[in-house]
Amino acid sequence: MDTRSTALLLLNLLHLFPHISAREFLSPGSSLSVEDSSDVLRSPDGAFTCGFNHISQTASVFSIWYSNTAEKTVVWSANHLHPVYFRGSRVTLDADGRLAVEDYDGRPVWANNVTSSSKAKQAQLLDTGNLAVKGQGDIILWQSFHSPTDTLLPCQNITSATKLVSSSRLLVPGRYSFRFDDEHILTLFDDEKDISFKYWPNPSNDIWTKNRNAFNTTTIGVLDSSGYFLGSDDLSFKAVDWGHGVTRRLKLDYDGNLRLYSLNKTDGRWLVTWMAYPQTCSVRGLCGINGICVYTPKPACACAPGHEVINPSDRSQGCIPTFNLSCDGQEIFLKLPTTDFHGNDLSEHVRVSRYECKKICLKDCNCKGFAYWQGTGRCYPKWSLVGGVTGSAVSGGSIYLKIPKTLRVRESSIPHSQPFGPRYVPNCSAKSENFTPDFGDQPKSSQSGSQSQYLYLSYGFLLAIFCVEVIFVALGCWFLFGMEGKQLIGVWPAEVGYEMVTNHFRRYTYKELQTATQKFKDRIGCGASGLVYKGVLKDKRAVAVKRLADINQGEEEFQHELSVIGRIYHMNLVRVWGFCSDGPHRILVLEYVENGSLDKILFGSERLLRWSERFKISLGVARGLAYLHHECLEWVIHCDIKPENILLDNNLEPKISDFGLAKLVNRSGSNKNVSRIHGTRGYIAPEWVSSQPITSKVDVYSFGVVLLELLMGARVSDWASNAGEEVEMVFGRVVRMLTANVMLQGSQHLWLFDFIDLRLNGQFDRLQARTMVNLAISCLEEDSRKRPTMENLVQMLVSVDEASGVMQ
Ligand SMILES: *[C@@H]1O[C@H](CO)[C@@H](O)[C@H](O)[C@H]1NC(C)=O
Ligand SMILES: *[C@@H]1O[C@H](CO)[C@@H](O)[C@H](O)[C@H]1NC(C)=O
Ligand SMILES: *[C@@H]1O[C@H](CO)[C@@H](O)[C@H](O)[C@H]1NC(C)=O
Ligand SMILES: *[C@@H]1O[C@H](CO)[C@@H](O)[C@H](O)[C@H]1NC(C)=O
Ligand SMILES: *[C@@H]1O[C@H](CO)[C@@H](O)[C@H](O)[C@H]1NC(C)=O
Ligand SMILES: *[C@@H]1O[C@H](CO)[C@@H](O)[C@H](O)[C@H]1NC(C)=O
Repeated sequence: MDTRSTALLLLNLLHLFPHISAREFLSPGSSLSVEDSSDVLRSPDGAFTCGFNHISQTASVFSIWYSNTAEKTVVWSANHLHPVYFRGSRVTLDADGRLAVEDYDGRPVWANNVTSSSKAKQAQLLDTGNLAVKGQGDIILWQSFHSPTDTLLPCQNITSATKLVSSSRLLVPGRYSFRFDDEHILTLFDDEKDISFKYWPNPSNDIWTKNRNAFNTTTIGVLDSSGYFLGSDDLSFKAVDWGHGVTRRLKLDYDGNLRLYSLNKTDGRWLVTWMAYPQTCSVRGLCGINGICVYTPKPACACAPGHEVINPSDRSQGCIPTFNLSCDGQEIFLKLPTTDFHGNDLSEHVRVSRYECKKICLKDCNCKGFAYWQGTGRCYPKWSLVGGVTGSAVSGGSIYLKIPKTLRVRESSIPHSQPFGPRYVPNCSAKSENFTPDFGDQPKSSQSGSQSQYLYLSYGFLLAIFCVEVIFVALGCWFLFGMEGKQLIGVWPAEVGYEMVTNHFRRYTYKELQTATQKFKDRIGCGASGLVYKGVLKDKRAVAVKRLADINQGEEEFQHELSVIGRIYHMNLVRVWGFCSDGPHRILVLEYVENGSLDKILFGSERLLRWSERFKISLGVARGLAYLHHECLEWVIHCDIKPENILLDNNLEPKISDFGLAKLVNRSGSNKNVSRIHGTRGYIAPEWVSSQPITSKVDVYSFGVVLLELLMGARVSDWASNAGEEVEMVFGRVVRMLTANVMLQGSQHLWLFDFIDLRLNGQFDRLQARTMVNLAISCLEEDSRKRPTMENLVQMLVSVDEASGVMQ
């Protein structure tokens, strides 16, 4: 007993030790050493740590990382180009404020650039994650925020003097950078040897389509603490979970995509909450020259038919042809359907036939193939094939690849995107030649090529020293090659963003769903779009399985729509996990939401929704709709917002269900021109009955009705049946009454007490209630143009959410 508790105590002490010894300051003349993993600087709130980060068994980099994440997340590195040896290296602050990283032999590999010549007082890691060297009077002599690597932290400015540079999985600086261009616009660049290409925002768009403001010489951009980024060029975006109190970082990932991450404090993992390219394959040049990015459904690189990969460990180097074009006019063209290569056009032609386009390309020896748009007759002969992508992101065009007549190409080597998983797995026997799933995610220990050469070179000198002691040589070599396989796995998770959006989205067979729902036994709902059953998948996830009625579209269209819906992810929208399209069956597999729909709680008697809960629900629904209307990949109108379609999770956080179904169930035109009346009486906007165009404002109207119902705790259509009137007439009356009341400034809020759900006994926030009434009135405007947008509504609700938070 005694020995056990002593052991426990010792263990605890050992565990505490690093925390006790972590330093708050580094004074001039002192240093941090590489050997002692507790010799680190910690920010006062403990969120960040700064010290030597062991990137392998023998190599370390002076870095800053988050103290409390599941996987070590580095936000800044000093000497990632020159890692130091794991023994004897150190970082020292001298009296002039010079912070220098020295290798085991005293050779400096990195030093900061102190401009002012004041005496240094200390180096300190601030709560923001900024490593600052301070002089007398706390003036900052140098700070890491001014020389970012690949990560921008909240409150850290990006200016014309700074940029983010991606780093590859092995910490070698990558080709992508995020910085201001010469028009002072924040841009993603692909920096090749001699030339930089811009790839985001889409360089072929003009400045208005880009929604940016050129030539503002202020050149600053900053991510604020609520997850909102604003740049001087009007670049703005925000995290889907925006709000205070969340740990965030903006990172230019190795694949050239800029992603915003939020930390889940429960499990210490990062979630992607915004990204520049929702589709990874759209990043220019990801698969290199003659390479084509395909969705399998994970993004992967394939070579154009007749080409072979140059370096399997770095797909971005692309592919080389296995043939020589003789340019004798005898070449043939191979069609790559729904595929495109970016730019590099020799010329541009419109309204020409495919035959003419072919002739143009045949005549020109530089022409490697052409892009052709059936229908519009657009023709683009290409002199180089880069940035290839195939799949639904390509709208309508195909590539015709110029190849010698004698070349035999197998059908299976033509890349196709397969966003829907197992059923469409490519022919595996053909895979080894032309098709490499993934980008070679984990560096494998057997890998040769440039990356291991790089490591070999940087550590060659170490080997020389240890040659004296044979055993160390053996160990050293083992470490050097062993580390690639061991240490670095997981440091560079593959395709984080893409996985987050689609990882579980897949196709299910009818049989799987029959098993999951025990032959559709437990019915939990029944709506206009179909019956809903509860089910449990093989991985123990509870799901709601919705059998869609009335789907009269072909399998391909259905899948296309679903590929859009499946990518929509927002905490206030019910997650779509997958679908089944088997024979006559069209079934959706949805996230199961515990508390059922809002109508059951709001209009039922089991449980009274408190004011704060009602407010939270209205804000959540507004956020979900704003996301659908303004931020997701394709413009989606819900068309049937009502309490039945608002589900509540354990914390009463609302989740909108059935979005995207209006388009699925009825496809008689473009989405802006939905012809049949959708929605439910009492919630539908007047434009459904008049002949005005249907826009996202129909959802704003329905949201207004839901707001009124949340305020009153009663269903609108019930007032009508009680009064024996038509719903629409009752509405008009209520809105007029409210408008008049809101005008009454003097008598304050007395009327509110009659209007708000009596069951609340006056327990509500006056300001929030008034704002909600005002918003409901504006949502219910007859003229759809006068209604606010969902974004406006979110802003208004947020403003009173925060205001009252301060008052109470
Ligand atoms: C140090 O800063 C000066 C002035 O800002 C600049 O000219 C110089 O290139 C910098 N040196 C390094 C090594 O970054
Ligand atoms: C960021 O820019 C703002 C406004 O120019 C400035 O007040 C602030 O000090 C800057 N922050 C850092 C860390 O440089
Ligand atoms: C330039 O950007 C700054 C910082 O975002 C902003 O305050 C200013 O209004 C902008 N100027 C113009 C002319 O848009
Ligand atoms: C955070 O992690 C916990 C535990 O894994 C999980 O239950 C929860 O859903 C996560 N939260 C979010 C927002 O993903
Ligand atoms: C193409 O031509 C080059 C030089 O003319 C030759 O070295 C190469 O082997 C040829 N490649 C093929 C696949 O014929
Ligand atoms: C797969 O490819 C092999 C050889 O490339 C071919 O013989 C076979 O028929 C293909 N199978 C299917 C299902 O396409």
